[in-house]
Amino acid sequence: MQQGNSIIEESEIDQLFQQQIPTGVGEEYQRVFIVHPDVKWGSKKQTLTTAELQMDEAVGLVTTLQNWTVVDKIILSTKTPGKKRLFGKGNFQTLTERIKRMSHVTAVFVNVERLSALSERELEDAWGVKVLDRYTVVLHIFRCNASTKEAKLQISLAEIPLLRSRLRNDLANLDQQGGGSRYIMGSGETMMEVQQRMLRERELKIRSALEKLCRKRHLLRSRRQQRQFPTVSIVGYTNCGKTTLIKALTGDAGLEPRDQLFATLDVTVHAGQLPCHMTVLYVDTIGFLSQLPHQLIDSFSATLEDVSHSDLIVHVRDVSHPETVNQKTNVLKVLRSLQIPERLLNSILEVHNKIDLIHGYQPSESQGVPVSALTGQGLADLKHRIEAAIVESTGKLILTLEVHLNTSQLSWLYKNATVQEVSVEAAEGVASVRVIMSAAAYGRYRKLFQVTA
Ligand code: GTP
Repeated sequence: MQQGNSIIEESEIDQLFQQQIPTGVGEEYQRVFIVHPDVKWGSKKQTLTTAELQMDEAVGLVTTLQNWTVVDKIILSTKTPGKKRLFGKGNFQTLTERIKRMSHVTAVFVNVERLSALSERELEDAWGVKVLDRYTVVLHIFRCNASTKEAKLQISLAEIPLLRSRLRNDLANLDQQGGGSRYIMGSGETMMEVQQRMLRERELKIRSALEKLCRKRHLLRSRRQQRQFPTVSIVGYTNCGKTTLIKALTGDAGLEPRDQLFATLDVTVHAGQLPCHMTVLYVDTIGFLSQLPHQLIDSFSATLEDVSHSDLIVHVRDVSHPETVNQKTNVLKVLRSLQIPERLLNSILEVHNKIDLIHGYQPSESQGVPVSALTGQGLADLKHRIEAAIVESTGKLILTLEVHLNTSQLSWLYKNATVQEVSVEAAEGVASVRVIMSAAAYGRYRKLFQVTA
């Protein structure tokens, strides 16, 4: 607990991050065989997608990793995904024979959310190679893309449940072999107790470091709010084009969109201007994925906290993707699980991105704003839609004021509001000024310059 108050250094975070890699896969080449268990019925059956599309997504996850290739893949029907055994006896035997014949395979990726430590060990024993599930593959992608303190800590936290179940499994194993967990260490604890204590301490250390970073973010957020810049959170399925869109809306040349899953692991903020000259802050967020394990979302929920505090959520969809409808459902499901205020959820602005990839694109009846973040098509319209939504959600007022040019009224407005247009009527020394400002600022303006409504 003492560590809770000390400042955690970059080197310490790196040490935590590097200490133990529970996925068991490092930087080396992996030649992966993908097995997709296709659930035929029951509550686990996916209704919005097909086994082929889920397999495509699994292939996408593997190939987004440098040095990883897919050597073979198979879709196998399963009727008992909830049971201890993932496959029926016959299917399992055929699969095992097939894997054993492929001596060049280094890992098998079973495309399920999470395998229990026991099944993982059993499969590894049977197949003689590393066995991965969605949790471990996604974690590995996160690991490869993590560059900031916060991302590294969040990944280390997401790895704790894996380490814990592996520990339980290893000790059960030791017990079978002769009671390793009952061995009393110098501290008077059993080996199991020592390992569990170390894991708890590690978790506490990570959580307290994350809390500190979280406080720092609160501070930054309240500074942004003080300056009254509205914030727009850009959310969407991984690779839908969030970063590209923000780059196009802000002209921020520093942003580097990549054709890679989960390229963005941190919340980053970028300023842009709306047509009315109002400055807004766009918040880039981590991409979503179907069946993203809950513990993984929990570890990143601090990062996603910024979404709850924004004035508007823009949901970017890659409408050229065959899974676009399913992706939308998944994104909305995750958003609903994040305790985002109802008013924000009800005012989501949907953007249909990548229309340049759809030959002869026809805007549909639906509410989405069609754009191509890459070619710039539709962006002017999108900015107007964002502007209208921001004015509505922040309760800002759009006013035309008569300003006397021999007073400090105009400079006050420049400082405290968004001045859109000034038309000077020279003869009278009066200007007509169109502004956007908060009701509070308007109240102050009226009091200061004794303006009656
Ligand atoms: P994550 O950080 O992984 O969640 O991705 P993202 O949603 O931020 O996507 P990003 O902006 O990195 O874009 C992913 C890929 O899609 C890149 O190769 C982009 O060039 C491409 N892309 C984005 N928008 C468009 C578009 O409108 N048209 C086309 N053709 N490609 C696009």
